[in-house]
Amino acid sequence: MKKLFFALVVVLSLSSRAMAGHPDEGMWLPMFIDRLNYVDMQKEGLRLTAEELYSINHSSLKDAIVSLGGFCTAEVVSKEGLLLTNHHCGYESLQKHSSIDHDYLTDGFWAMNRNEELPNEGLYVSFLVRMDDVTKKVLANVKAAMTENERSAEVRRVIADLKKDASDKGKYTVDVKSFYNGNEYYMFVYQIYEDIRLVGAPPSAIGKFGGDTDNWMWPRHTGDFSMFRIYAKPDGSPSKYSKDNVPLKAKYHLPISIKGVQKNDFTMIWGYPGSTDRYMTSYGVNETLNEINPAIIKLLGSSLDIMKEGMDADPKVKIQYASSYAGLANFWKNKIGESRGLKRLNVFDKKKNIEEQFQSWVTADTSRRTKYGSAIPEFERIAKLKTEAQQGKQEWYLNLTLYASNTLKIAMKNMSLENIVKMEKEKKAESIKQLEDGLTETYKDYNSAIEEHLLASLLASYNKDIPEANQPEYIKTISTKYKGDFKAYAKDFFEKSLFASEGNFRKFLKDPSEKKLKKDMGLELIKAFMAVAMQGQVSGSALKTAENKANRLFIAGLREMNPDKKFYPNANSTMRVTYGQVLDYFPADAIHYDYVTTLDGVMEKEDPKNEEFIVPAKLKDLWQKKDFGPYADKSGKLVTCFLSNNDITGGNSGSPIINGDGELLGLAFDGNWEAMSGDVAFEPELQRTINVDIRYVLFIIDKYAGAGHLVKEMTIR
Ligand code: ARG
Repeated sequence: MKKLFFALVVVLSLSSRAMAGHPDEGMWLPMFIDRLNYVDMQKEGLRLTAEELYSINHSSLKDAIVSLGGFCTAEVVSKEGLLLTNHHCGYESLQKHSSIDHDYLTDGFWAMNRNEELPNEGLYVSFLVRMDDVTKKVLANVKAAMTENERSAEVRRVIADLKKDASDKGKYTVDVKSFYNGNEYYMFVYQIYEDIRLVGAPPSAIGKFGGDTDNWMWPRHTGDFSMFRIYAKPDGSPSKYSKDNVPLKAKYHLPISIKGVQKNDFTMIWGYPGSTDRYMTSYGVNETLNEINPAIIKLLGSSLDIMKEGMDADPKVKIQYASSYAGLANFWKNKIGESRGLKRLNVFDKKKNIEEQFQSWVTADTSRRTKYGSAIPEFERIAKLKTEAQQGKQEWYLNLTLYASNTLKIAMKNMSLENIVKMEKEKKAESIKQLEDGLTETYKDYNSAIEEHLLASLLASYNKDIPEANQPEYIKTISTKYKGDFKAYAKDFFEKSLFASEGNFRKFLKDPSEKKLKKDMGLELIKAFMAVAMQGQVSGSALKTAENKANRLFIAGLREMNPDKKFYPNANSTMRVTYGQVLDYFPADAIHYDYVTTLDGVMEKEDPKNEEFIVPAKLKDLWQKKDFGPYADKSGKLVTCFLSNNDITGGNSGSPIINGDGELLGLAFDGNWEAMSGDVAFEPELQRTINVDIRYVLFIIDKYAGAGHLVKEMTIR
């Protein structure tokens, strides 16, 4: 699952609950495998040593796993820095390289030699060099009596020092993150490579087969993979793109098994899960169900319709908006599924139950009362205030409006114009030249008609759904001026604002003046939103601080209450391991879902009239001839995807699923519809990871695309 959403202005952090237990549940820190999980993993079928998995002195399995751009995972599969990840993780890169003449989304892309591999500006991978527990250092001078502000100032101070010390004069990028909501701190030292080239991807008819209809669902038949390569200086050190760079000589790469999977086989998944909220309280569940998710579903639903209409009307626009559409549609459907799951699986009641147990445990003892007594009453108080102010809904309306409208995004990025127009002549000319140079790129995937429509719709929803007192004054002004007709406003805006099109922007830059800028409708609008964002951050921050503290106490208390339970921390975009097995499931009464799908199913789903289910002629041909090479299953069929009960979330997309001998079996790419509430509560009976089988991946590279030279680079067992 690709990391779902980057909150732009307001970083939402909701509250939480715990629970480990089942071996399948849990996203564990690699440095603790030896201590916490190894015995269990061995019992389940792991045959590598703990040192072979995670070592900071020798190369180990962890060295094959990278974070891709902070939103996905990828793994090294050859000595020459070849990477595998999901198709949907490479989708944006593919889209950026695509045009009507070279439509890599529709046709796929294959570099037939190294010279054809395509650079991707801004894309990077990070290798984890090591991680350390720095809790003692970070909390050394933290006292229980400190205010939250004093506490976080102290924590920030120590973290800044730690980072500086570990960076080795900038060689490494260092991150120190909070775990268990501020109860523990870990440091991560990364080496970052920035010359990452696109090597190959199947057409969307394979890489995105089933489209948004099948997304988040099983049975699945998607060949969700793409390939990149890491380039470095000849001495192996990182460098920005340069034609002199060479493929990275990798420290470790994953060998590949083409023996296939059986039910109950041991599996582990390594990767970078983005965020989970397993300690969310019943108050959080309530807010998610009643405020946040309905807001997201409504606002994104109408935005997606608008984008789709524009995309269907024009093939060029279709390519331009493909990546943002896919991202938003993915998030939108996720939230629909999450709400459905939270309700059907009675997650609210389960959380309440935990809180009640917690509260009786706290009340039973004086010292516990002193330490943890404030947590639950605080949750209650905060929830009441937040609900009254409809805070969650407001934050998301703000976020999504700024996120879905490219016009507002561009306006936000260029608020510095206010300073630029005031600069003295020479500096001004220089800044303007820079802006001009970037404009083609800024507006490359921008369609004014769609954007006008989006802006009108987003503002109208804002005006209608958010209580008047909490709207930017400016929106009320517009509403009055245009008599509530936001279409008329948007029409005017798109004629006048400098941000509305590349042409307008260029025209403004030809003769930029403070006076014109001041009157610009785009600048007025974005400033109005920014003011609301700031104000929200200020008024919300006291609650957020109180909520953080309550969470910290709640989790600390839960851990003390269950001393024998192994607790795992919420996902936070740091490297994790989850282990379990290949497993089927029963999605509903009397329905059984098998754990593998095959190419036969692709043909069953074929629908030439529906672009999500088109089957490429060549694929059909190979299927008819059963020309599967060495990649067929024992049954003679070609397996496409398989299920496991590993515990993953957004950010794990592209993660390797690995057998007990450390061999690659496939790539994790999705979660399943029946357990979409999984980020809030793991459901052992229902929750599954959807993986693309490595044999399908190799078959597509080798037989379908004729890029067997890439398979030759890999270590196949
Ligand atoms: N659900 C997948 C994830 O979150 C993304 C799949 C992309 N495919 C699509 N049809 N939008 O990683």
